Amino acid sequence: MDKLLITGGTPLAGEVAISGAKNAALPLLCAALLTKEPVTFTNVPDLNDIGTMLKLLAQMGVKVDRQKVGAGGTAVTLDASDLNNPVAPYEMVKTMRASILVLGPLVARCGEARVSLPGGCAIGARPVDQHIKGLTAMGADVGVEHGYVHARTARLKGARLFTDMVTVTGTENLMMAACLADGETVIENAAREPEVVDLANCLVAMGAQISGAGTDVIRIRGVEKLHGATHRIMPDRIETGTYLCAAAATGGDVRLTGTSSAYLDAVIDKLMDAGCEIDSQRDSIRIKAPHRLTAVSIRTSPYPAFPTDMQAQFMAINAVANGTAVIRETIFENRFMHAVELVRLGADIKIDGNTAFVTGREQLDGATVMATDLRASASLVIAGLVAKGETLIERIYHLDRGYEHLEQKLAALGAKVQRVK
Ligand code: UD1
Repeated sequence: MDKLLITGGTPLAGEVAISGAKNAALPLLCAALLTKEPVTFTNVPDLNDIGTMLKLLAQMGVKVDRQKVGAGGTAVTLDASDLNNPVAPYEMVKTMRASILVLGPLVARCGEARVSLPGGCAIGARPVDQHIKGLTAMGADVGVEHGYVHARTARLKGARLFTDMVTVTGTENLMMAACLADGETVIENAAREPEVVDLANCLVAMGAQISGAGTDVIRIRGVEKLHGATHRIMPDRIETGTYLCAAAATGGDVRLTGTSSAYLDAVIDKLMDAGCEIDSQRDSIRIKAPHRLTAVSIRTSPYPAFPTDMQAQFMAINAVANGTAVIRETIFENRFMHAVELVRLGADIKIDGNTAFVTGREQLDGATVMATDLRASASLVIAGLVAKGETLIERIYHLDRGYEHLEQKLAALGAKVQRVK
């Protein structure tokens, strides 16, 4: 299993290009299931999760054409004209929870879908009960059989939907399903994340009738069929935020290109509170960090508030800031796994329920640590970049799921980082 060896202490400097957003690309690729015509996506990031999703779609009968298009990333054309197997098997779903995003489009297009429940989840409860509740309200007959969600219907019917909590993939699944339903669907308490808006923009380009994406009420008037389109995937706001934090923690001076601060207000605000200078242009962001950051407290909440996917990275920067930060996680109850690993690097972190108290240290010390999930891994990379000496991060396959060319991008910014086989 690959490991990442980082020798800390170098302030990051230079320019880094931000990739297309993983969390926009995953639902967008599933949207291609809704039409018999080819759909082309550009700015597709080269990530393991994208590879998994393309494999999943291919085994359903979708033709996948992936072309490298130079610096602009990868273009992917999906042709679902011969969609013949509306099934997402356990072997593929277990590695990526976002596989559930095929459920809505498959039922809408084929009238039937069998999608494995993501591993380790209680049947009927989280994480997909809201997806099931929505499709049921739209007239589908949905049951859970042998670990699979099995949904059937002649044609989905428009309905008024209200999710119990704000769910990003839940909103996306139901919005996609509603595009081909008979009549109008209203999703209340909808997620307002920019990735939901990116998906809606693509669906509209495919002929869907959607209004209100980006607000908490989305209206979708169903149409008989959708057609092909070409769509450029939005920049990855979490990758952007991660490089901003890496620059901030190391006292660096970095320009991020191909991205925008428009999707990151809450994160940028906190970095400025921490003492960073930020210069936002239309499609680039420059960050200049002070010698030492000031501690900043955060509380995660659905967009536009502070994203849970940036919580771990902010724990890392607070570990070396001046003062004590209070970090409150309100979206996922067990998302502090990185804290114990950061402590191994010398961080001062106390956990009480969903709250972490982080008192900054002048210095962290390199050690061997273990990556536990995608964003937790990113926080260990940031900590490794500031720690004195060598940090060896084990199980970096988590990073490969969500950060394109991580070590090359960091090395180009002057970081001493290498992949160890
Ligand atoms: C998406 C993102 C993920 C991010 C998360 C929160 C993708 C592919 N992933 O995940 O990176 O961390 O949003 O911003 O876009 N819930 C239920 N029942 C449901 C659905 C959700 O109980 O049917 C709960 C979840 O357990 C969680 C909360 O609702 O506590 C929010 O989850 P949700 O927004 O659905 O996360 P994902 O869409 O899976």
